Amino acid sequence: MKVTAFVASARKRGTYQAACRLMDYLRVNGDIETEVVALSDYNLELCRGCKQCFDRGEEYCPLQDDRDVLVEKICESDGLVLATPNYSFHVAGRMKIFLDRLGYVFHRPQFFDKIFTNIVFQGIYGGRKINRYLDFVGNGLGFRVVRGICLTSVEPVTEKSQQRIDRSIRRLGNRFYSALNKKPYGSPSLFDLMKFRMSRTSIRLMLDESSRDYTHYRDQGWFDAGYFYPVRLSPTKRLVGWMFDRMASRSAGKNGTGDKTTQPSA
Ligand SMILES: Cc1cc2nc3c(=O)[nH]c(=O)nc-3n(C[C@H](O)[C@H](O)[C@H](O)COP(=O)(O)O)c2cc1C
Repeated sequence: MKVTAFVASARKRGTYQAACRLMDYLRVNGDIETEVVALSDYNLELCRGCKQCFDRGEEYCPLQDDRDVLVEKICESDGLVLATPNYSFHVAGRMKIFLDRLGYVFHRPQFFDKIFTNIVFQGIYGGRKINRYLDFVGNGLGFRVVRGICLTSVEPVTEKSQQRIDRSIRRLGNRFYSALNKKPYGSPSLFDLMKFRMSRTSIRLMLDESSRDYTHYRDQGWFDAGYFYPVRLSPTKRLVGWMFDRMASRSAGKNGTGDKTTQPSA
């Protein structure tokens, strides 16, 4: 198995070192191949907001940079770690630039068989919210999420702080490793089911062949599926899923499209 960490700090200090320590722990204790990628070593341009990736497909992005090299690294991995310093109570700009460039994946999630976590390194305060944001981002991209950790220390890092940081990293390593070894494609949470059913029904009713989201959902068979991937839903989840379809259908109806949902799907 392979785990890749993307680090958003330009320095090879707190954040970078924490990512390296997590990778060392996984390599030694889990026999896992690892790679630490400093985003600052790659050319990532600012999203221009043209929405070509949403409407026509990511290959129509006018920016010629290293986005696809980084996406390929994710595709080749079983696990992804996003590590960022807390800058002004949010992810560092470099991380946000990268996430903006992945915007199309929130429309067409794809990393269902992979595990995700995140590390936030900060001086004082605000990092927990960033963890929650990144947990949400990982989920939206399709990953199975192991909740991220926030490491706090002013510089220079004292021995005591370093021990606390190491303990936290080891705990994350254990959780991440056991998630990597769990069977993929489990039953979705109700929240994930809601997101899938409401978006697929909206896309089916409100978009058409001219939209990449529509053709992608159609080609993946998602308009008729119970969830993004084949999974046996319990009778309750089937019923609730059908209700989400109905809700999306009604709200699409209010926008001038018809209600075509008639029965619960698989
Ligand atoms: C521009 C900037 C903004 C920062 N904002 C915050 C902040 O809002 N909260 C916080 O606790 N630390 C903040 N810090 C401190 C960094 O999170 C801290 O120094 C961290 O260790 C930096 O990561 P690094 O060691 O990987 O460079 C900020 C640092 C910089 C340079």
